[in-house]
Amino acid sequence: MWNQNEITERLKITYPVIQAGMAGGPTTTQLVSAVSNAGGLGVLGAGYMTPEQTQSSIEQIRQLTDKTFGINLFVPETPELDKEKIKESNRMLRPVREKLNLNDPSGIPKTSSEPFFRQIEIILENSVPVCTFTFGIPDKPIIKQLKNNHVTVIGTATTLKEAIMNEEAGMDMVVVQGSEAGGHRGSFAVPYEQGMIGTMALVPQVADRIHIPVIAAGGIMDGRGVLAALILGAKAVQMGTAFVTCDESGANERHKKAILKSAEDETTLTSSFSGKPARGIRNAFIDFMAGKEHLLPDYPIQNALTKDIRTAASKHDQPEWMSMWSGQAPRLSRRGSAGDKVKEIVSEVESHLEILMTGRK
Ligand SMILES: Cc1cc2nc3c(=O)[nH]c(=O)nc-3n(C[C@H](O)[C@H](O)[C@H](O)COP(=O)(O)O)c2cc1C
Repeated sequence: MWNQNEITERLKITYPVIQAGMAGGPTTTQLVSAVSNAGGLGVLGAGYMTPEQTQSSIEQIRQLTDKTFGINLFVPETPELDKEKIKESNRMLRPVREKLNLNDPSGIPKTSSEPFFRQIEIILENSVPVCTFTFGIPDKPIIKQLKNNHVTVIGTATTLKEAIMNEEAGMDMVVVQGSEAGGHRGSFAVPYEQGMIGTMALVPQVADRIHIPVIAAGGIMDGRGVLAALILGAKAVQMGTAFVTCDESGANERHKKAILKSAEDETTLTSSFSGKPARGIRNAFIDFMAGKEHLLPDYPIQNALTKDIRTAASKHDQPEWMSMWSGQAPRLSRRGSAGDKVKEIVSEVESHLEILMTGRK
């Protein structure tokens, strides 16, 4: 059976389809549970959540499904607190704040890795079955503690070198993120430009050389993409953009509409929202900040600085100032329920397999 392999067995899921944890709203508890109930793996994007929000989301997911689900976390970074860059960024952002009737922020944004460590404890206390990471690899004792408590740990890589680092650190599986992917680049050991390798080129090169199962991500939107990824050597796929436009997704309606009407050439990479490169639909904010990104403070400081802008833009339905993350295949996005999306993917894989085997259309 095409859908059964070491990943589906280990995760006790029916189909090798993982819905990406997407921090910042898209992955509601309804979305996560709908994907898990449909036989895939729903993942909660908890990167921006407080420990309390993480705990209550886990409780809600458990009321909605008894199937396997996961939590996605951001491995904390230690940014350089460059006061001049913070001042410069606020100066650059002033015209945008004026358009949104926002005042200049006072003070320096605080960053702390404490919530991350508390989230790890919450995952252990609640026996969450799967924990996925991006932006780096957590320290070995954390990985060990999770594994000793039967949590499956999954890392993210954008090059073979990063995939090997995940394997050597003890990750059970690794998401291999191609350059088509929506949202932030997971690169951590190479400059992000070096990690801009397409899914089709990256997946087989990694799958040939590492021993843990590979999960392909980036531009996969339907059954054709899933089957292609499996043939390239992946044992599962991770899909983000395809689930953003689903009914249960908590993404702002403007964000959903922007993906649904975008073409393959309308996304771009920008660091201007967060200080870390991410792929999203090009808008006025991205154009306004273009060419000035090297002047901005590090992630997550820039992310904290633009939070008021993103929140106000979302509240007042102004997509020109919102971050609207999307991969490079938005033309393949559809509305509908997440459960139907999983079913549709499965039936597409099966009909494509039939065509391949019989030659009949
Ligand atoms: C709206 C959005 C938010 C995302 N947030 C996260 C996140 O919080 N953590 C993470 O590991 N990946 C995140 N990603 C990246 C996905 O894990 C994945 O690499 C990507 O969605 C794959 O490409 P696709 O969007 O073309 O399916 C996000 C992607 C999108 C589209």
